[in-house]
Amino acid sequence: MVSQASRKNLLKVRVMDFITSTAVLPLLLGCLGIFGLVQLLQWIRMKAYLRKAVVVITGATSGLGKECAKVFYAAGAKLVLCGRNGEALEELTRELTTSSATKVQTHKPYTVTFDLEDPGAIVAAAAEILQCFGHVDILVNNAGISYRGAIMDTTLDVDKRVMETNYFGPVALTKALLPSMIRRRQGHVVAVSSVQGKISVPFRSAYAASKHATQAFFDCLRAEMEQYEIEVTVISPGYIHTNLSLNAITADGSRYGVMDKTTAQGRSPVEVAQNVLAAVGKKKKDVILADLLPSLAIYLRTLAPGLFFSLMASRARKERKAKNS
Ligand SMILES: NC(=O)c1ccc[n+]([C@@H]2O[C@H](COP(=O)([O-])OP(=O)(O)OC[C@H]3O[C@@H](n4cnc5c(N)ncnc54)[C@H](OP(=O)(O)O)[C@@H]3O)[C@@H](O)[C@H]2O)c1
Repeated sequence: MVSQASRKNLLKVRVMDFITSTAVLPLLLGCLGIFGLVQLLQWIRMKAYLRKAVVVITGATSGLGKECAKVFYAAGAKLVLCGRNGEALEELTRELTTSSATKVQTHKPYTVTFDLEDPGAIVAAAAEILQCFGHVDILVNNAGISYRGAIMDTTLDVDKRVMETNYFGPVALTKALLPSMIRRRQGHVVAVSSVQGKISVPFRSAYAASKHATQAFFDCLRAEMEQYEIEVTVISPGYIHTNLSLNAITADGSRYGVMDKTTAQGRSPVEVAQNVLAAVGKKKKDVILADLLPSLAIYLRTLAPGLFFSLMASRARKERKAKNS
């Protein structure tokens, strides 16, 4: 009787014989070589695309925007850093220009200060942005604000504020910069959305709604801009360890001021910024940067909506109970 171990060994020997005695080995090596070559070409194209590109980043004073500024700067991009806090933008510019951790030629960034809640300021800011380097290659709509609250307690003003910052502001800035991109038949618009732009979580209504609207608008834009060769990338991260929950507004418009456990345990903004750089460099259309569970939840929402809704209702019950206890 042949033992199980020797049967396994025999199988291994036969498999190895098959691989080495036929064309399988050269074929495997050839595939690996082609794969490596494609990756290398992609990498070279990405580097060339980002080097000297004029990149506008909103919300550059903090979190993901700040880290994006660092990675795009190191890639050789010509930056226009935007935010509400001029001093913080200047401080970041100093930090970037005194760092020496890059081999490519770098460029001193410009800063433009404006509030996305102010439509008039956005039009003026767009003109100022265009004056910096004469055009814009890549617009990264990153700035955003989060929200925590129950729908029934939340004033309509709070819903509007979140929509102004996360949706109408980026839409207005994009519309103000698009004519120049269309004239050049060149440009790339990036929207930093969220997993909550694909699924809605209880007690985040205004935020999830603003990010769903963002996803919808920029998906339409992608289709409409194809004729001008303008790229559109929507990026949907899961939790990132930034000040987003601290800066979130509550049902009455006051600052939430709490570092949520989910946010604290989120991905590092440095890692997410590198993912953003790669997604933009590869001109990806729609990217989810999340762990397995949130990614699965997105599919569950489409494939088994009933189950998804039950899970969200149970989450709402639990959160309400925790708040009342
Ligand atoms: N952190 C997460 O877990 C997470 C997950 C998914 C998606 N995101 C998205 O990632 C993006 C960046 O957020 P973050 O996590 O880096 O949060 P953050 O640290 O709070 O940074 C938010 C940035 O947006 C700017 N901003 C807020 N309101 C603005 C306004 N009215 N006008 C102009 N700028 C404004 C802030 O500028 P000031 O310094 O002036 O306040 C700040 O630079 C947001 O779109 C957010 O929705 C975050």
